[in-house]
Amino acid sequence: MNQGSMNFLRMEQLDLAGKRVMIREDLNVPVDDGKVTSDARIRAALPGIRLALEMGASVIVLSHLGRPVEGEFSAEFSLAPVAAHLSDLLGQEVRLQADWLDGVDIAVGEVVVCENVRFNPGEKSNDPILAEKMAALCDIFVMDAFGTAHRAQASTEGVIRKAPVACAGPLLSKELDALEKAMQKPDRPLLAVVGGSKVSTKLTVLESLLDKVDELIVGGGIANTFIAASGHSIGQSLYEPDLLHEAQGLIRRAHDNGGRIPIPQDVVVAKSFSPDAEALVRPVGQVESDEMILDIGPLTAVEYSEIIAGAGTIVWNGPVGVFEFRNFAAGTRAVAEAIGRSKAFSIAGGGDTLAAIDQFGVSEDISYISTGGGAFLEFVEGKTLPAVAALMQD
Ligand code: 3PG
Ligand code: MG
Repeated sequence: MNQGSMNFLRMEQLDLAGKRVMIREDLNVPVDDGKVTSDARIRAALPGIRLALEMGASVIVLSHLGRPVEGEFSAEFSLAPVAAHLSDLLGQEVRLQADWLDGVDIAVGEVVVCENVRFNPGEKSNDPILAEKMAALCDIFVMDAFGTAHRAQASTEGVIRKAPVACAGPLLSKELDALEKAMQKPDRPLLAVVGGSKVSTKLTVLESLLDKVDELIVGGGIANTFIAASGHSIGQSLYEPDLLHEAQGLIRRAHDNGGRIPIPQDVVVAKSFSPDAEALVRPVGQVESDEMILDIGPLTAVEYSEIIAGAGTIVWNGPVGVFEFRNFAAGTRAVAEAIGRSKAFSIAGGGDTLAAIDQFGVSEDISYISTGGGAFLEFVEGKTLPAVAALMQD
């Protein structure tokens, strides 16, 4: 699919007055003790919901929360806290409807949140009969759940194909525009910073990024595998021995493409994985056998900050160290601040990344913060997002 053309109907182009508008949002937010603990995704959904209300629609909101067992209600995965939070943000009553597949009673100006779509059998398998039932509840279906656009499920891809009219909501449009800008027509050099614990979960992303980016910085457990692949001892560090060969291949390919995947010159190590473990800085080749790498060292932080300062476009996913532990947060802080300072168009996505952005207070300085985790990575990888494909008009 050529995501560059982005030829789909947008919500703003439609007359929603008097219409039953069903909006699929990604309100999959952390909930603790019946309270929403981070509402970024709910706030990101507000423009779509408000736009429908302003245009005189009745608004039916769909979302999933977590990964419940299909066919079983479970209070843990109820959208009740989300509906209550949405009500606070909107400043109007938001009703939660438990059983909704056979009909939703709603008037113009009202907002109803339907209980977790993943309680319905057939959601995950994209059952066409389930999708049809959802489609029958609305005049217009709005796909606005960018974070779930990589799932071909009944409330995403399925219902789009069955709805009388289907369009993209403002959040989905904004996400795709930003990602397209970063990946399809980036100001060069294009730099990707990919951190996180495992090469295996990001191998395909790393592979496809190598063909697109001018520079690639890897961090976290991913970097450990690259450090080991370069022949350095890494002691007790988290890494993936069975992916050393792949890592070597990536390093070689980067070289052949005229680029490189830099290996940290220095690292911060500890003897245990704990918040108050003592931190020691070591040159990369000198990690002892009883030590583990938990962050990049100060020289590397400066080097990476310089690479970041020279970039024209930056795509960031994943921390470069265990930033949740104070002694091992400096590397990720340096990277976050350098991205914040840079004049490049910068885009960041993924749960850990957003937590780091919050922790280091740089959210105002990143050009675009995506609500997507898996969807963000799949787009960056160049994969077709099924829900976006379903919206495309040919
Ligand atoms: C996410 O949090 O990444 C999205 O809401 C998708 O959730 P899922 O990975 O459970 O499909
Ligand atoms: Mg996920």
